This record gives sequence, structure tokens and C-alpha cells, in this order.
Amino acid sequence: VWTYKPSIVDPIVELMELYESDARADKVNLGIGVYQDNDGKTPIFAAVKDAEAILFEKETTKTYVGVGGDAQFVKRLGRFLFGDAADRMLGIQSVGGTGALRLIGEFCARVAPESRVWVSKPTWANHPALFASCGMPCESYEYGKYSADRLLQNIIASLSGAKEGDFVVIHACCHNPTGIDLSEPQMAQLAEAINDKRLYPILDAAYLGFKNSIESDAAALASLMQRFDTAFCAFSASKNFALYRERVGAAYVKGGERAKLGEWRELLLSLARSNYSMPPDHGASIVRIILEDERLRKKWLGELAAASGRLRSVREEFAKCLTKAGCGFSTDYIRTGSGLFCLLPLSEQEVRQLRVDNGIYMMKSGRVNLAGLRDAEVERVAGAIAAVVRSRARTAIA
Ligand SMILES: Cc1ncc(COP(=O)(O)O)c(C=O)c1O
Repeated sequence: VWTYKPSIVDPIVELMELYESDARADKVNLGIGVYQDNDGKTPIFAAVKDAEAILFEKETTKTYVGVGGDAQFVKRLGRFLFGDAADRMLGIQSVGGTGALRLIGEFCARVAPESRVWVSKPTWANHPALFASCGMPCESYEYGKYSADRLLQNIIASLSGAKEGDFVVIHACCHNPTGIDLSEPQMAQLAEAINDKRLYPILDAAYLGFKNSIESDAAALASLMQRFDTAFCAFSASKNFALYRERVGAAYVKGGERAKLGEWRELLLSLARSNYSMPPDHGASIVRIILEDERLRKKWLGELAAASGRLRSVREEFAKCLTKAGCGFSTDYIRTGSGLFCLLPLSEQEVRQLRVDNGIYMMKSGRVNLAGLRDAEVERVAGAIAAVVRSRARTAIA
């Protein structure tokens, strides 16, 4: 008899089903984790279309690319992200950022079976499930939700429970779900604490290009990576190349001398081989073509900058409208935050009320995807949220 204990279904799937079945014309989807433009679309970048045209013209075979994927893609991307330091790292193509994390997780579980992995609390919902699937016990370190105050101190304090050889997942930028990041000097302090405790960082880079420019976000990642002798990086091209469904990513590992890296590469390749054999090629080829071609690269950088610029202006406007509508909490963390998300200080009941009464859909944690807000809706949505908070205050007084 087969027994099966169902694992927890990602709550976003459930929320999206509810949204789809809602007939209201003015419903607002702040749940899904993808970038949307002011028309509610997730467009394909023109640079991607151009690269696809080149690929269509030049591609002569669909034969296998190899277990580690497209070596030129890995090399180009590695240089783009880490500069010369990439020469001293190993990299393999992965099935999106999730695939990179999964490879890294399985790798860590094999080489350090006694170790645990620490993720922020809160974090991306898939982190704990993913590492658990790799057989790694998962612990969490405290992370602020609505303010950057004492963020670093809290993280370091909760990592005091970690033991030598444990792994720590750090969101490279645009923390999911809070949108609150450590500053660069604070990241340097965290790196020092991680090194002092002899822990190993896993840098999750899923939103490069959505904090500042992608060059500057990548430079921050590279300088962080430089602070460690051994470190892992899971890169995702889903958001910054808007290639979500093409499943493009890469896992990079830095560590010690060349011979060790060679052994580690073998292990990563064998994990990939026994899992999915080889990664898909189409999206990785697109990224490679864009990075190789000066004109396409400029075009992509411009399109990505426009997308992240829109997010910054939505943040400003949303924070301003919430305050104006009398939400009663400080919205500084929303204004100064980065990336797609922020958390709102709402109870599950209040989140439900917004959904039922106003057709505003968000995760029950209060996570909002700011890209889901069209300019014309910001004021109404902020007003509805503020009204819910105000009615809570009234109920408390009554
Ligand atoms: C923090 C974080 N890491 C990794 C990923 C994985 O992205 P991908 O779609 O490339 O697998 C996501 C996607 O939402 C994410 O939010």
C-alpha cells in the first residue's frame, strides 16, 4: 500500500484560482509574483524578440546541449555578474533560479549531511519546501517585516543558533516578501558574522536589476561574493529577462583551489543528470545572444530599467496614497524598499475582507506585488486598505 502525506500546496496557487473565478471588472491582482506593466501585462522584452529572431535564423540543430547546459551562456553570464572573479568559480546552467537552488541544496545535503540551512523569516514560500526536499533540515533567522530598524542585529542574533558548517540563504537584493534589504555596509557586516561563525552563504539572486540598475545590483552581488572563500549563488533570469516560462538560471560556486572546484562540478553535474538530465536551451540561448550583442544588450538594459523604474514610482505613489488616506502606519519601508514586493501590516481576516469587499487579492501574509497596481488604481486600493486599518482602530476603541 502506498502512503502519501500531502505536502503544503503553495498558497499562491489557491489565491490565483479564486482571482480567476471572480467576475468583478475592477478586481486587482496583487498576489502573483511577476512583473506587470501599467496595462497589467507581462510583456516580452523587444531585445528578447530580436534575440529569438537571430536564434530562429541561426539555429541548425536541436540536439542535446549537455548536462551543464550552454557553456557560453554560463561563461558570459558569469563574467557579467562577477567580472574576472568568475574565472575562479564553477557554474552550471539550471532550470530557472529554483533549479539552481535545488542543485545547490542537493549538493549541500551530500557534502555536509549534518548541516542545516537557515532561511529568513519570512522568506519566499518555496525556500523551506525546496530545502526539505533536498533532505536538509531548515531553520529560520528573524527578518523585519515593516521596517529596516535593527534588521542586521536581529539577523545576527538569530544566527547565533547556527553551528559551524551550516548554510545561510541570503536574498541578494529585493527581499521576497518584504522588499527590505540590508544596505551594502550592513551586508558586509553580515558577511563578517557569517565568516566568523564558519557558515556558508547561498546567495539567492532572483531580482537583480530591480533594486538599482542591473550592473549596480550585480556589482553589489560580486562584492558580497568576494567576502567569502566558499559561497553559492543561484541566479534567475526569470524576472530580469522576463523569461519566466523558459526556465533560465545558473548555479555558481566559489570555493578554494581549482581541483576542489573540479570535483564539485562533477557532483553538481551528476545531480543534474540524475534529476532532469539536461536543462532546456531556448531561454539560455536568448540570454547568451543578448549578452554577446552590444546593441541587444543596450536595448535589454533600457527595457529592464524602465520596468524597475515603474516599480519605484508605484512604491512612491502607493506609500503616499496610503499615508494620505490615513492608514496609520509608517509607509517609509514601502517607499524605500526594492523589488516587486512589500508586506502590509494586515491580519488574515483583513486580507480576506479586502478580497471579498473590494476585489483586492493579496497573499494572506499581507504580501503585495506592487507591479500588480496600475497607476489609475493606486489611490482606490490604498484607500480601501487604509479604511480596513481605520475600522480596526474603531473596533478596538469600541
Ligand atoms: C526569492 C526567490 N528565489 C528564487 C526564485 C525562483 O525563480 P525562478 O522562477 O527562476 O525559478 C523566486 C521566484 O519567485 C524567488 O522569489
